[in-house]
Amino acid sequence: MLSFTTDEDYTQNYKFLIGSILPRPIAVISTKNENGTNNLAPFSFFNGFSAKPMIVGFAPIRRPNSGEKKDTLVNIEREKEFVVNFVTEKTADLVNLCSTELAVGEDEFEFSGLTPLQSEVVKAARMAESPIQFECVLRDIVSYGDEPGAGTLITGEVVRVHVDESVYEEGRINTADWLPMGRGAGNDWFSTKNPVEKKRLTKAQIQK
Ligand SMILES: Cc1cc2nc3c(=O)[nH]c(=O)nc-3n(C[C@H](O)[C@H](O)[C@H](O)COP(=O)(O)O)c2cc1C
Repeated sequence: MLSFTTDEDYTQNYKFLIGSILPRPIAVISTKNENGTNNLAPFSFFNGFSAKPMIVGFAPIRRPNSGEKKDTLVNIEREKEFVVNFVTEKTADLVNLCSTELAVGEDEFEFSGLTPLQSEVVKAARMAESPIQFECVLRDIVSYGDEPGAGTLITGEVVRVHVDESVYEEGRINTADWLPMGRGAGNDWFSTKNPVEKKRLTKAQIQK
């Protein structure tokens, strides 16, 4: 077994994180730029943290060389709201395009060909191609520093959930109907075409 300290260059820690925390869910975060255009970018340091209030969180990390904040963080600090969209097998290539570092204020919807859809509560646009969209109001911003690689945890309260009828059945979202994609190490992505079901033991079964 090899053992490492974590006080070296951040790139080593980053590789431990992305090589171990697998597969990672992907949030496609939409925000409003200061000039009124839309910003859209994928984040795989992402998860859900509370059902009521309904809280989700994700973490943009500071840019590799400059340590600059990503546009998504700058926009959320100013606007205090965002939309979480989800990536499917069909939209993965276009979402991947949205991770391109464009100039500040440039619209990733226009760049990628994805379609902005007006939200009901927040100013940030929804991604029309996403079968599920969460409109979120900012709850917390926790900064872990300003060096390259330092993360900022952003949490938001989901104030409106939109689910396409085609993926919603008897009060549940059906995975097979929308085929979400996950993120791997390096440039890997994960497909959800072959889920494996494992039933959990009930308390009664253990006590037998
Ligand atoms: C699938 C995928 C997941 C990503 N996850 C993250 C992440 O969790 N944190 C991060 O800082 N960057 C992540 N990136 C890179 C950002 O999407 C990229 O830096 C983007 O340009 C940021 O956009 P912004 O400057 O408009 O906020 C990811 C890229 C891809 C393709």
